[in-house]
Amino acid sequence: MLEPVESAYRPEMSRRYDQDFEAIFGGADRGDLEFFTSLAGLAEGPVCEVGAGTGRVLLPVAAAAAGASVVGVEPSSAMREVMLARVGGADPRVGARIAVRDGSFTDLPLADRSQALVYSAFRSFQHVLDSDGQLAGLRECLRVLRPGGTLAIDLFDPDYRLLHDTEPSVVARYRREDRAIVERWDARRVDRVSQRVDVDFRWVVRRGLGPVLEDVRAHYAIRYTFPHELLHLLARAGFPAVQLYGDYDRSPLGPTPRELVVVATAPG
Ligand SMILES: C[S@@+](CC[C@H](N)C(=O)[O-])C[C@H]1O[C@@H](n2cnc3c(N)ncnc32)[C@H](O)[C@@H]1O
Repeated sequence: MLEPVESAYRPEMSRRYDQDFEAIFGGADRGDLEFFTSLAGLAEGPVCEVGAGTGRVLLPVAAAAAGASVVGVEPSSAMREVMLARVGGADPRVGARIAVRDGSFTDLPLADRSQALVYSAFRSFQHVLDSDGQLAGLRECLRVLRPGGTLAIDLFDPDYRLLHDTEPSVVARYRREDRAIVERWDARRVDRVSQRVDVDFRWVVRRGLGPVLEDVRAHYAIRYTFPHELLHLLARAGFPAVQLYGDYDRSPLGPTPRELVVVATAPG
């Protein structure tokens, strides 16, 4: 099942994505950039990011992928617009190697066996909302990978202590360029059978103690996947060699992983 991304990552979300991200993580790096750029540095050929969003990871990856063509595939037109602006502002020697394309995990606009590295950062894979779709998405990645090519994706580790419904709460507060204060509120509903989390967002914008200037709402859904479920899906999709790590530093999967980080190799 595919979430209608145009209604989730629509302009309200897309133009706030980078500001929210930087307010929540204290910058554009949530500890994942080194992992993805080092894979890109080793790739001997074209590189693709699936669900590339605003290009947060794509640009450093393109800089690291010496001379290779890099494509950012993204289903939301509003996110692609932000990504294109970012590519336009990049060093032209890097920007010239980057293409931005419409597509999704289950429909990659790429030729069979064309990519040396296919990766997905910050849980874009979790927007595929059922396991049939996830399996189809992994098979689609395998279709476009060269023999021996690398797939790298990340997911959050499903922590039962966090997987419950929540009341709205403030997850970020920051000052915009025009000095107005933005409060980002989240609330979530969890379905433990479909493993689906529906997140309602709200941005409340005020200047000082004055009246509310903007009150904007959005919603998206994600699916959580357990480590062994993921390994079974990767095996069924046809990846013979899979490493599953507990963090971007490739630490082993312990009892309390920070992240589920997959590095899989296409058959040679
Ligand atoms: C949390 S953002 C991550 C963006 C970027 N990779 C980053 O690290 O900042 C998730 C992205 O996945 C995209 N997305 C949603 N459904 C998707 C699908 N079925 N296939 C690929 N990407 C999808 C969204 O539009 C959004 O841009």
